[in-house]
Amino acid sequence: MSVRQLFVTTALPYANGNFHIGHIMEYIQADIWVRFQRMQGHQVNFVCADDTHGAPIMIASEKAGKTPQQFVADIAAGRKPYLDGFHISFDNWHSTDAPENHELARQIYRDLRDIPADQGGSLIARKTIEQFFDPAKNMFLPDRFIQGECPKCHAKDQYGDNCEVCGAVYAPTDLIDPVSVLSGVRPERKSSEHFFFQLSDPRCVEYLQKWTQDGRLQPEVANKVKEWFSVRTNPDGSTSEGLGDWDISRDAPYFGIEIPDAPGKYFYVWLDAPVGYLASLKNLLNKRGEDYAAYMAQPGLEQYHFIGKDIVTFHTLFWPAMLHFSGRKAPDKVFVHGFLTVNNGEKMSKSRGTGLDPLKYLSLGMNPEWLRYYLAAKLSARNEDIDFNADDFMARVNSDLIGKFVNIASRAAGFLTKRFEGKLTTDFGVQGSALLSALREASEGIAALYEAREFGKATREIMLMADKVNAYVDQNKPWDLAKNPANNEALHQVCSTLVNTFAVLARYLAPVLPSLAQAVESLTGSDMKHWNAANLDVASIQPYQHLMQRVTPEQLDALFEPPAKLGSEPEFSAGKSGSDPNSSLPPGGEDIAHTISIDDFAKIDLRIAKIVNCEGVEGSIKLLRLTLDVGEGRMRNVFSGIASMYKPEDLIGQLTVMVANLAPRKMKFGISEGMVLAASHADEKAEPGIYILNPWPGAQPGMRIH
Ligand code: 2FM
Ligand code: ZN
Repeated sequence: MSVRQLFVTTALPYANGNFHIGHIMEYIQADIWVRFQRMQGHQVNFVCADDTHGAPIMIASEKAGKTPQQFVADIAAGRKPYLDGFHISFDNWHSTDAPENHELARQIYRDLRDIPADQGGSLIARKTIEQFFDPAKNMFLPDRFIQGECPKCHAKDQYGDNCEVCGAVYAPTDLIDPVSVLSGVRPERKSSEHFFFQLSDPRCVEYLQKWTQDGRLQPEVANKVKEWFSVRTNPDGSTSEGLGDWDISRDAPYFGIEIPDAPGKYFYVWLDAPVGYLASLKNLLNKRGEDYAAYMAQPGLEQYHFIGKDIVTFHTLFWPAMLHFSGRKAPDKVFVHGFLTVNNGEKMSKSRGTGLDPLKYLSLGMNPEWLRYYLAAKLSARNEDIDFNADDFMARVNSDLIGKFVNIASRAAGFLTKRFEGKLTTDFGVQGSALLSALREASEGIAALYEAREFGKATREIMLMADKVNAYVDQNKPWDLAKNPANNEALHQVCSTLVNTFAVLARYLAPVLPSLAQAVESLTGSDMKHWNAANLDVASIQPYQHLMQRVTPEQLDALFEPPAKLGSEPEFSAGKSGSDPNSSLPPGGEDIAHTISIDDFAKIDLRIAKIVNCEGVEGSIKLLRLTLDVGEGRMRNVFSGIASMYKPEDLIGQLTVMVANLAPRKMKFGISEGMVLAASHADEKAEPGIYILNPWPGAQPGMRIH
């Protein structure tokens, strides 16, 4: 078989938050496929990067008091524990803000703009459009940053693109009483010139119709994409025929890549994001001293993107068209997966990845390969959602993975070490030979399932083989054979057969369980890195060491235990200090929250605040309104649920501690611009009392708490 050259990517995550379990699922899916290809001897470059540009990241960095560059660098610095922790074998991790990406995105744009007339002419057009503009912030507002009343059902506080109450889709200019989420002011309509990639051009339509329908996409994806060629929904809810042109520019201020020859105009983040695939590859090849142009020019190069079902349009219309019409290679395939839900819960949304926290999973000492195995067992080549279910997880890990597979080794290894100095025989007896042959003959079938990304089917086949091995154990009962020295030869045969079958199955599972496979390689000397090494018999084994623990219900309980409760008033944090030494209950009524890194802690900006004024809040018996000075040259208004404990006049002039970088919250009584720290028992009803913090003398307003 000839060596294939594969360029494989996963979707680039936005650099505005940590990974959630949906990201990890995609990375594990792609990683299994990549590891399988590497075991076949193929050459793979498997890359990813942070998707750094766009208005949301620009705004988030401003709120965090950082430059966007610093903001995304801080996010990037937190990636490693996840990737290492779940054994994701990317060859490179890069950034869409890196020079390679600026250069490539600008060049692709120029190539699209400058298509000669004899080849149909430019695919870039300029049109003046009207959009909402925030006069206070001096910027055009993305749809998600405008809120107002739904024009259809009149629900309040709906976003500029669609109504979450009635589901209506509309243009932001249709909203009743729109306000800018950024400044609270009423946005104005303003015109500006935008750049469009002319997807409606017959050249693009013809090319994409063919590209999307020639069998390279999953059938269910191809069918969905087909609809977009005949009908499309406009932002105002009306429909039009065929593909629409794509607005690829945004006006300054914008964190992105400046458009060549167009000062103050930037590429829309989705233009340069997929170019990040190429930029990361180029960066990798440069580091290795290899030539990017030569690599991309290889006629047999295969290019694959693993993505979620929410970003199909970008990857099956815009991206192949951008590449093809700029004279570049288009992807060979785009592999689309569904969403992951947790315990039948809601989908893991990008902004709200709740449910199963990957770092918490690791910090609880849970084996990453349990999750890899579980996800593999559920994944298919289809674009369908899968659910992580805690009971199902425990059953599959403990009964299948450990009970059926890992235990094969422990049942044989002890006898081989104690009775045969760890040496194996190659005489497996008739039954043992037949079993081993059957397992080895399954190699091609299993390989075909991996190739087709049918990981669920592959693991099922492997477990059926493990069932056969366990039936062989039950028939031959090594523990009975061991009782009588006259059965030594039979015992040797049975145990040698078992270790060989175990090595075969471990190799079949190696793309899913790379670390376990490595341990099996150390135990048996059997090559786990090459798929076709299956026919070499194991000669001897090292003393057996436990290969994998079982998952416990306690671990799963801890994993899904909600994070430490906050006080009943949302703007007020229940403290975690104070403990009762005579009680076996958790300190302060709640367990210490799971471990965070120093980087996580550094995100919380705690400051000494002077309470310059304090008063009751009409209509609330719980709240006090605090006017706080944190040395910024302006006052902050903060509501705090401490009215039951303090008289306003006693607090005026005191110093306390506040979270200074908390996003402002709109409350019934006004906007709260931060949060005052205070301590309380988790169960405020059982142990009432809320105590605000008071620094030692010497602390000054504005000092940061480290
Ligand atoms: O949807 C997302 O999370 C995007 N950041 C994916 C980008 S994929 C690629 F095009 F960069
Ligand atoms: Zn509505």
